[in-house]
Amino acid sequence: MIRLKQVSKRYKNSSEDEFALKDCDLTIEEGELVAIVGTSGSGKTTLLNLIGGLDRDYTGEVSVMGRDLAKLGDAELAAFRNREIGFVFQHFNLLDHLTTVENVSLPAYFDRDGKVSAPAKRAAEALTNFGLGDKLDDNPNNLSGGQKQRVAIARALFFKPRLLLCDEPTGSLDTKTGRQIIEMFQALNREGYTIVIITHESRVSEAARRVIRIEDGQIVDDGRVDND
Ligand SMILES: Nc1ncnc2c1ncn2[C@@H]1O[C@H](COP(=O)(O)OP(=O)(O)OP(=O)(O)O)[C@@H](O)[C@H]1O
Ligand SMILES: [Mg+2]
Repeated sequence: MIRLKQVSKRYKNSSEDEFALKDCDLTIEEGELVAIVGTSGSGKTTLLNLIGGLDRDYTGEVSVMGRDLAKLGDAELAAFRNREIGFVFQHFNLLDHLTTVENVSLPAYFDRDGKVSAPAKRAAEALTNFGLGDKLDDNPNNLSGGQKQRVAIARALFFKPRLLLCDEPTGSLDTKTGRQIIEMFQALNREGYTIVIITHESRVSEAARRVIRIEDGQIVDDGRVDND
């Protein structure tokens, strides 16, 4: 599902030898639930942004679902991101002036073909399945952190992408709420979604089947966990 070959990344304003990622090789198969761990500044977000096609300024090869991202044009890449990949962030990244239904249906409005049938109905169903049926017309700022993250996950799943990329998805949540979100990811993984989660929290990495550790822009450990 994901293949990186000798991927390096240096941000424009950093010095010649200061790499955010250096010579990374990585393969993630369909159906995996993978945690990426490492200290602050080690390169986790940089790695996830490359996999998600959010940053195309790198060397080496990044392939996702068989597509070499460097070979996609900007519009093609945007469509690929919108349709095939779901993103979940620490701070939810919801639009406060829209309702929850409107937030969840945003991917329909970014869709290139613009022919998604009944996006609001689909969004309302997804929110109802996530226990937010009474919040359909609320603005996200009236919701708790856990509710916001469920809205964000419903949005990420709008087009049923096969891949979910999550950057510290429980980082703004209390322990109990964070656990509920992790259980959601585990359930989604059992349904077949491939999920990559950046985390600082051991309870999240313990839920994963594989933990990749990054230090100073390099993958230093890649272990499968036997937690069955
Ligand atoms: N936009 C940017 N411009 C310049 N340097 C950056 C930029 N984003 C990240 N970096 C640098 O790249 C390195 C890796 O950063 P990255 O954000 O990937 O780390 P991280 O592992 O996600 O850290 P954190 O756990 O704090 O989120 C760091 O040295 C950081 O300072
Ligand atoms: Mg980060």
